[in-house]
Amino acid sequence: MELEGKRIVLGVTGGVAAYKAAGLLRLLTGAGADVQVAMTEAATRFVGPITFAALSGKPVLTDMWAAAADNRPMTHIDLTRAADAILVAPATADFIARLAQGRADDLLATLILARACPLLLAPAMNRQMWDNPATQRNLELLRQDGVICLGPATGAQACGEEGMGRMLEPETLQEALRAFFTPKSLTEKKVLLTAGPTFEAIDPVRGITNLSSGCMGYAVARAAAQAGAEVTLVSGPVARAAPFNVTRIAVQSALEMHAAVMKRAADADIFIAVAAVADYRAERIAPQKLKKSAGGLPEIRLTPNPDILAEVAALPDAPFCVGFAAESEQLETHAQQKRQRKNIPLIVGNLIQEGFGGETNHVVLFDDAGSHPLPVAPKTQIARQLLAHILALMEKK
Ligand code: CTP
Repeated sequence: MELEGKRIVLGVTGGVAAYKAAGLLRLLTGAGADVQVAMTEAATRFVGPITFAALSGKPVLTDMWAAAADNRPMTHIDLTRAADAILVAPATADFIARLAQGRADDLLATLILARACPLLLAPAMNRQMWDNPATQRNLELLRQDGVICLGPATGAQACGEEGMGRMLEPETLQEALRAFFTPKSLTEKKVLLTAGPTFEAIDPVRGITNLSSGCMGYAVARAAAQAGAEVTLVSGPVARAAPFNVTRIAVQSALEMHAAVMKRAADADIFIAVAAVADYRAERIAPQKLKKSAGGLPEIRLTPNPDILAEVAALPDAPFCVGFAAESEQLETHAQQKRQRKNIPLIVGNLIQEGFGGETNHVVLFDDAGSHPLPVAPKTQIARQLLAHILALMEKK
């Protein structure tokens, strides 16, 4: 949604990572962005402009003089006036050096110098080039000019070495652009969340858990990070990557989740408990695998887990606390009772038969003012609406 209709100039400069820019272009156009590609001469030695022309559906700009000969002498100015952002991916050390000097010695550098829109760079280079003080000095100058630097990452490099300088992956760059275009309503807010199931061990290989996918919690964490918050996500075991710009603390059991949350709760402005925390755990975890041969039916004695949300809400200087209530009937009654029992200002209720485990959800927000049903929507959208509601309530306080 954030990229729908956005006019982006994708600059490609001459590095091996230029091939990844083709993947990035596909992701951006797939998300509805209108992308114009401009390449340096060196970039065309790595990937042919025809690839980018085919993927963007537009001729690729490579040559200042070709544009002029084509009766479009002011291409550089027209383009940057119309653009919402310029992203250079990959940005080589040489190109970064040229930008830092404010040079206009090819079409892409000229476009950038003449821009009226934000500039984002995704550096890609050999680790020693990255570490070179000249490169760091150039980047510092560009940062002072308001240029946003995305990455690089560390890892295996095309030259066979290992280290800092890999371009961020296309999916990560797409996420960074989405975040860039999201209004920054949560800047300077610290958001702490729980997500996913917990796993309560019975013996070294078995345990009690549930089917929570973590989808909703991760969507809220991602939306909060995109809105500019500093986000910490305490997550039970799920097969998901941490969202861009989110610090993830991986835990297994409710006790581990409880400890991780309590350590950070006093520092948070907002606490959103999305995790499906097991209400009980085995009183004793068998140190060795339980064997059938032991005879008889095994008995597992359960003991209650701490209620993380209620404990955070009871802190002297508690953050703004939000809970989730998945119910199978009488949604309003159960959700409001849960909200009062835990003494929290807001709870998100949903009927499990209407969206458990799926990509969309149908939820109702319950607060002091009553109930606020949200239309059925993808969890990413519900997450944004929930954050807007939280902010509105916090401002009223
Ligand atoms: N929660 C928590 N710690 C627990 C249990 C739940 O933080 N030990 C949080 C959940 O993350 C969620 C809300 O509390 O935000 C759910 O409340 P709860 O009463 O525990 O829900 P259920 O377990 O579904 O309760 P019940 O079985 O009574 O319906």
